[in-house]
Amino acid sequence: MIRFDSDYLEGAYPKILKKLVETNYDQEAGYGKDEYTKSATYKIRKALNNDNVDVHFLVGGTQTNMTVISSILRSYQGVICTDTGHINVHETGAIESFGNKVITVKNEEGKINIKQIQELVDLQRNYDLPEHLVMPKLVFISLPTECGTNYTKEELKEIYDVCRKNNLYLYIDGARLGYGLVAKDTDIKLQDLTELCDIFYIGGTKCGALFGEAVVIVNDELKKDFRYYIKQRGAMLAKGRILGIQFDTLFDNNLYFKICKQAVDLALRIKEAAIEKGYKLFFNSFTNQQFIIMPNIKLKELEKEFAFFKWQKYDEENTVIRICTSWATTEENVNKLIEKL
Ligand SMILES: Cc1ncc(COP(=O)(O)O)c(C=O)c1O
Repeated sequence: MIRFDSDYLEGAYPKILKKLVETNYDQEAGYGKDEYTKSATYKIRKALNNDNVDVHFLVGGTQTNMTVISSILRSYQGVICTDTGHINVHETGAIESFGNKVITVKNEEGKINIKQIQELVDLQRNYDLPEHLVMPKLVFISLPTECGTNYTKEELKEIYDVCRKNNLYLYIDGARLGYGLVAKDTDIKLQDLTELCDIFYIGGTKCGALFGEAVVIVNDELKKDFRYYIKQRGAMLAKGRILGIQFDTLFDNNLYFKICKQAVDLALRIKEAAIEKGYKLFFNSFTNQQFIIMPNIKLKELEKEFAFFKWQKYDEENTVIRICTSWATTEENVNKLIEKL
C-alpha cells in the first residue's frame, strides 16, 4: 500500500535520526535547558532575523494550540476562527475544555476575512449588555489553511491590522508552515511573520521531525510566564533535548524549507497530472495537500494500491479525496500514482 493520506506517516528526516544517535550518550540539562535547544533557538531567531522573539518547543499541534490559546485568554474571552479551523473541528473541544469559546465564521476556501472579524467584534461591543456575550480577544488562522490554501502578505497584513485596531491578538497555527511558505500562491516569508502576528508556531511533526512544534512569541505581552503554562499543560518534555536536536537540525542550512519544497513540487506534479487527465479540483491548492474530486468507481480501484484521506462526499457518484505528500514522499511513488490516475 502506498499512502498519501497524510503528511505524518513516516518517521523523521534521516539527518535528525543520525544526530539523535550521535548525541545519545551526551548528558544534558532537562526541560529545554540543554545546549541543543539553545542552539535551535539561536538558529530560529537568526532565520527570523529577530533576537527579541521567545521560542519554546512543544510536542504536538493540539497541545500547542491549547497551551497557547489558554495562556492568552481569560475565561470570558473567545477565539475567532473559521468553521474549518483545526481547533474547531479536529481537536476534541480542547480549547473549550479550558472554558474558552471558539467563535466560528464561514470559511472561504479555508480562509477568514476582515469583514467577518469586524462584524463579530462589533456585535459584542455594540450589544446593550456586552458582558453578557463572550468577548472576542484572539483570531486563530492556519498557514496554510486546512484546505491547502494560503494567505497573501497583503491579506495577512489586513487581518493583523483589524486585530490591532480592535485590541485582538493574532495567532498563526503553522503545523504545515514549511509547506505553506514555499508555495507559489503566497508572498509571505518566514521573517514577515514577526511583523504580521503576535504569536505563531513552526510545525515540525509534519515537516521532517519525529515530533515537535516551535512556538514563536513576538508580542511581549504574551511572553510572561509562558513556561508555566507549558509545564502545567503537561507539554514540557523532560528530555527537551530531543526537540532541540530536531529543530537544530531542521534549521541548519535551510533544511526545513528544502525538504518542504521537495514535497510541494511532488504534490504539484500530482495536481497537474490530475488536471491533465480531466479530474476536477475541490480546492486550488499550491501546497503539499491536494484535493481532488474522484469518481467513486475510480476511487475503489485506486484504493487497492493507494491510501487517501476521504475529505467529504461530493455527490452520489464522487468523493473529495485529499492527497498529501511529505518530506519523505518519493518520486517513484508519485509516478506510480500518476500512472494509475
Ligand atoms: C493545522 C493543524 N493544526 C494542528 C494540528 C494538530 O496536530 P496533532 O494531531 O499533532 O495534535 C493539525 C493536525 O493535523 C493540523 O493540521
